[in-house]
Amino acid sequence: MSKTISTTKNADLFERSKKVTPGGVHSPVRSFKGLDRPPVFFASAQGATITDVDGNKYIDFCQSFGPLILGHRDSDVEMEVLRAVGDVWSLGAADPYSLELAEWIVEKIPAVESVRFVTSGTEAVMSALRLARGFTGRQKIVKFDGCYHGHVDSMLVKAGSGLAQEGAASSSAGVIGNQVADTIVLPLGDLDALKNLFQNCGSEIAGVIIEPLPANFGLLPLQKSFLEALRALTDEHGALLIFDEVISGFRVALGGMAQVLNIVPDLITYGKIIGGGFPVGAFGGRRQIMEQIAPAGPVYQAGTLSANPISMRAGLTTLKKASAPGKYEQLNDRAKNFADELRTLAKRASFEISVVQNSSLLWLFPGEEKNTPSVPEQFPADLDKRFKPLFLALLEQGIYLAPSGYEVMFLSHAHTDNILEQALGKFDRAFRKLGG
Ligand SMILES: Cc1ncc(COP(=O)(O)O)c(C=O)c1O
Repeated sequence: MSKTISTTKNADLFERSKKVTPGGVHSPVRSFKGLDRPPVFFASAQGATITDVDGNKYIDFCQSFGPLILGHRDSDVEMEVLRAVGDVWSLGAADPYSLELAEWIVEKIPAVESVRFVTSGTEAVMSALRLARGFTGRQKIVKFDGCYHGHVDSMLVKAGSGLAQEGAASSSAGVIGNQVADTIVLPLGDLDALKNLFQNCGSEIAGVIIEPLPANFGLLPLQKSFLEALRALTDEHGALLIFDEVISGFRVALGGMAQVLNIVPDLITYGKIIGGGFPVGAFGGRRQIMEQIAPAGPVYQAGTLSANPISMRAGLTTLKKASAPGKYEQLNDRAKNFADELRTLAKRASFEISVVQNSSLLWLFPGEEKNTPSVPEQFPADLDKRFKPLFLALLEQGIYLAPSGYEVMFLSHAHTDNILEQALGKFDRAFRKLGG
């Protein structure tokens, strides 16, 4: 940070936090690992802006890692949340709030005939995997290198997000062999490997889970033809296809990647946007499969705070507003123009950076465009080192990115043309500082 920016309170909070919390944070990517400075402690947020405990303001391109498609504290969402808070906080009983959201989702998303709400994306994935095994009576789950599916034990193999920085095995201490023994990891986008696997043990595979837009190891491209082949193979062999749309759901389009690709998976997992910034997750899909879930069926799944009324109301208000006619097109166009402008500024400043964009997601790869990785093996070993000066120069200018080179940027409706214009000025100054 520049000397004019005060950090007094921040430093004190981090010291205190380290004494009572591992690494001083409640989720690893928040820790600023490899950035040689304490994480910024934020106190408040509005729209596209977040304010730290010392009063410094930043344009926020992390947006809580994706849930806030309308930006922080959207006024309509806030009003509905306050109204709901005035009625009820938590019930642990049947309620109309979750019914309204479930009906809305089932009406809008063709692949979802029935849905169950949980409290996080991780829980959604964990439950969907159990359901796939319960429904098929099979054991094996296939995932892809670089796809992140939350911190479910069986998915902590070659994942992305915070694990992308954890070295070769991309696994976690505490996850024992048995827990990953039935997880098969395939190279992302490798059709031959996929075909071979199904040929060898197709009848043992309960399900294949994939991020149809891989957005946890940078923003990786995935061919539509690969996903179509995956749909065909899973169908042929009686395995379930699970789209993990925790990031892409209600983000790339109302119907997520399933809509964009015109592929109907058997199950979809959601999180982030469907809670509008409040804790939520969900999994849904074909009724016949979902009817296996307790109490309708034998696959157990439950939660004290599942379908929390405040989250349900925030989610429904967010989804309705984000999917008003023309809204997705507006947001995605704005993101595309913003990415184009960033490329122009970087070129003018002779700063080497590749700007990858898909819908309202952007990823800044600190390197030559022609070297932009498309699979995890292509990532340079020194990505963290390359990311650090970029992140710090932007922070100094008042731009907040997720503090890791593996994470994407999220644009929201609060990133208006005016805000993005201001942001471009800040990026320009940072690029010129760093450029050759
Ligand atoms: C694709 C994907 N799946 C699952 C998860 C886990 O969600 P949560 O962090 O809400 O547990 C994430 C989180 O970023 C994700 O990006």
